[in-house]
Amino acid sequence: MVAEKSGKRLNSASELELLCEEIKRSVSARTRTVTICCGTGCLAYGGTKVAQAFRDEIKSRGLESEVEVKTTGCHGFCERGPLVVIRPENILYQRVKPADIPQVIDETLISGRVIDRLLYTIPGTKEKVTYEHDVPFYKKQMRLVFGANGYIDPTVIEDYIGCGGYAALSKTLFEMKPDEVVDEVKKSGLRGRGGGGFATGAKWQSTREAHGDPKYVICNCDEGDPGAFMDRSLMEGNPHAIIEGMVIAAYAIGAHLGYIYIRNEYPVAVKHAEKAIAQAEAMGLLGENILGSGFSFSVKINRGGGAFVCGESTALMASVEGRVGEPRAKYIHTSEKGLWDQPTVLNNVETLANVPLIINRGAQWYSSIGTANSKGTKIFSLVGKVNNTGLIEVPMGITLEEIVYGIGGGIPKNKKFKAIQTGGPSGGCLPASKLDMPVDFDELTRAGSMMGSGAMIVMDEDNCMVDIARYFLSFLEGESCGKCVPCREGLKRMRQILDRIISGQGQPDDIELLENLSETLTWGALCGLGGGAANPIMSTLRYFREEYEAHIIEKRCPAGVCKPLISYNIINEKCPNCTLCIKACPVGAITGQGKKLPVILDQVKCTKCGACYDVCRLGAVEVR
Ligand SMILES: Cc1cc2nc3c(=O)[nH]c(=O)nc-3n(C[C@H](O)[C@H](O)[C@H](O)COP(=O)(O)O)c2cc1C
Ligand code: SF4
Ligand code: SF4
Ligand code: SF4
Ligand code: FES
Repeated sequence: MVAEKSGKRLNSASELELLCEEIKRSVSARTRTVTICCGTGCLAYGGTKVAQAFRDEIKSRGLESEVEVKTTGCHGFCERGPLVVIRPENILYQRVKPADIPQVIDETLISGRVIDRLLYTIPGTKEKVTYEHDVPFYKKQMRLVFGANGYIDPTVIEDYIGCGGYAALSKTLFEMKPDEVVDEVKKSGLRGRGGGGFATGAKWQSTREAHGDPKYVICNCDEGDPGAFMDRSLMEGNPHAIIEGMVIAAYAIGAHLGYIYIRNEYPVAVKHAEKAIAQAEAMGLLGENILGSGFSFSVKINRGGGAFVCGESTALMASVEGRVGEPRAKYIHTSEKGLWDQPTVLNNVETLANVPLIINRGAQWYSSIGTANSKGTKIFSLVGKVNNTGLIEVPMGITLEEIVYGIGGGIPKNKKFKAIQTGGPSGGCLPASKLDMPVDFDELTRAGSMMGSGAMIVMDEDNCMVDIARYFLSFLEGESCGKCVPCREGLKRMRQILDRIISGQGQPDDIELLENLSETLTWGALCGLGGGAANPIMSTLRYFREEYEAHIIEKRCPAGVCKPLISYNIINEKCPNCTLCIKACPVGAITGQGKKLPVILDQVKCTKCGACYDVCRLGAVEVR
């Protein structure tokens, strides 16, 4: 068994190659593999119990030599979890429960029949889809970086090696000089996936050329954006790809020590990263004299406390050093003076996971994907008011429309699309007129938003854009480290102005005041948190100004969200007096004196909880 080879040190490129071949042979000896997603989303739905039920049932039937049961990281389609994929056919079963397992084994694994009730159903057409690659959510994706998640057990290094893992490292160490690695990454056009979109090759080159020894490589897995979970899922599902990327970066810049900075709220990611480091060290793929090449590099894990600002490069480095996680001015780049004032490369998880692909398949191949200045694919977390939520990986240049409708399946309950918020809390809200826009670093910035780390939140007609701007602003206000005045004071004042607008106390010059403060904040803030904090306001003012005006001038919230500006009313012509709302009202604000008399809603008693609106099936309760 290949598993017995775990821990055996590999001392050359050819030993790695031989092991890879051996693993491939042992995999093809089995006829079937059942992969069960045990990413954090599917774990919450009971993925572990499903996996255990499979293992118990396969064992009790003596099928272990024919069927391999494998737990994997996130497959992306989290809202349908726990997901089970039967390979090689790639039959996808969704929302699987432990009680379903005997039937899956009898019917699908033994008799070759598909179980209809466990298949994904396309909401509009009600069509059942058998194979993973035919599900619309997956069909338009290009899963170059994220795809391996669905095939490998992240706690078993042989799974990664069997898929060609660490071959890029071997090629780097034995066939390329450090300068050639930097050149290849430069030619690929790879830009950092952590937010700024900085050219990775150029960053590596300046760190390589910087004076100072030692040098460091840091992987940023802080991921504090609300709604984002790309980095967590990559670290949980394929930690070796990130480690491989880190060793390649270290070889290119001449570093011998690296850190993975992971927020402590990601326990599975921390556990898998720790295990991956230990396995890679035991097999000579990390640590002293990697693969017998003479090159050494070690990786340590540093747990972050969960402050959003600690994802910022200088704050992160301060935190690793054991100081307070506050940003500093970057007159001198971290590539020259970073961790402990030494030259440091800081890259995002997804950036590093792209590196083995580039080395294996070449810069030319990589740069053929994407747009002129944004190459490769991007992983996004697609959440909010969209039918298919989850993680998607798409080529740069895909339009927002293809993402929201083609992959996301459109807006639930046939509601109208209103906006998409991209780029995390410092990103912007783009309206329906931007749906045909190709998604890449530069287009998003031009439109007043940004790529950020890749969170995408879809909003429908029921979202109030002033309320949304206030939400992001108050998130950033809470996360501001308070070091500089424009951010510490500016965010508070801007939030107070938004508070009064949504409470009906808005003043005629509030919009101008917000614009002035936004400009001061953008130019005066010390770090990117404050520097981008005005984006939610500026983008909503740019595309949804009339909503601000309705709140300030007409004292009206067009989306019916801001409570002080709305009232619930009963349209008596539509109401047959079914009494549902009377029973639902928690404060007794609705009364009805018998079948023939109208239902009355007392505005003084009403607390605007919305329960009557939610229960009325006839649309007889309206929000004004
Ligand atoms: C407030 C703030 C939070 C950030 N959070 C993250 C984060 O969680 N993960 C990340 O990779 N980059 C984050 N960044 C960007 C990093 O500062 C840095 O640019 C990035 O890690 C560099 O990696 P890249 O070149 O691979 O993108 C953040 C920046 C700011 C200003
Ligand atoms: S901009 Fe905000 S988060 Fe950044 S240093 Fe200033 S106060 Fe701190
Ligand atoms: S909004 Fe809530 S409190 Fe007001 S009438 Fe309806 S159920 Fe009662
Ligand atoms: S739930 Fe609707 S239809 Fe029924 S009594 Fe209330 S307003 Fe009328
Ligand atoms: S956690 Fe299972 S699909 Fe995302």
